[in-house]
Amino acid sequence: MARQAKPGKPKGSSGRSYRGHAGLTMRPRNMRSRKSSSNRWIERQLNDPYVQETHKRGLRSRAAIKLEQIEDKFPFLRPHMRVVDLGCAPGGWLQIASQKIHLNKNKGAALVGIDLLETDPIGGAEIIVGDITEPEMIEKVHHAIEGRADVVMSDMAAATTGHRATDHLRTMGLLELALDFAIEVLSEDGTFLAKAFRGGAEKSLMDRLNLHFEKVRHIKPPASRAESVETYILATGFKPLPPQESDQE
Ligand SMILES: C[S@@+](CC[C@H](N)C(=O)[O-])C[C@H]1O[C@@H](n2cnc3c(N)ncnc32)[C@H](O)[C@@H]1O
Repeated sequence: MARQAKPGKPKGSSGRSYRGHAGLTMRPRNMRSRKSSSNRWIERQLNDPYVQETHKRGLRSRAAIKLEQIEDKFPFLRPHMRVVDLGCAPGGWLQIASQKIHLNKNKGAALVGIDLLETDPIGGAEIIVGDITEPEMIEKVHHAIEGRADVVMSDMAAATTGHRATDHLRTMGLLELALDFAIEVLSEDGTFLAKAFRGGAEKSLMDRLNLHFEKVRHIKPPASRAESVETYILATGFKPLPPQESDQE
């Protein structure tokens, strides 16, 4: 599928070197027969050090490295925590979280992943196939972790349309759903991590985040491509609101 160019030697029928900017060395074969956008995607994958690291370490997704980088900078996953991962397939975040919370040693640790798609099992984790908005989903999570969660994280993404405004709205819609979910299941002082788009959250969403959390940060981990509008929101110190009078009636 791919070949490695020898340094310093011109390659390809054009005689041009395949070594491009940033030390790129690999190019897909049959370039002319493919559309240029898919060529660019394949070329980027072949030369992406994080894709290579993903394969080398047996991680299920490149996204796993993003979580690890966010966590390295602002550690929030600790042994024996109860963690919920929204949009967990194929399971890269679950792999990282299960190590950080010492899931295999148990001692109170719990990990639940939810996705529309099937996810291969992760030892000790409960995986639920379904939409996070299904009415019984919150109850299922409470049941699985036997109480409230220390961390709710969401890497949920909708299939992109290529239409910027639509994609932005969809991602921010999922962020809002993830926040609703987190408010229902987090325990006091809990942490919420979620994928967002650059430009961050809308003011109303930021207001809700600030109301419910002590600290809200926007983070762009190095593995999140610079040209991508993707960013992450890390909100710590969950403050459950006292029930409203109307809720008590
Ligand atoms: C970028 S992937 C997650 C990758 C994952 N963090 C990993 O490391 O393997 C986004 C996932 O969100 C899921 N998703 C999108 N909307 C969802 C919803 N309403 N309920 C559950 N999962 C959803 C998609 O099915 C998709 O698998």
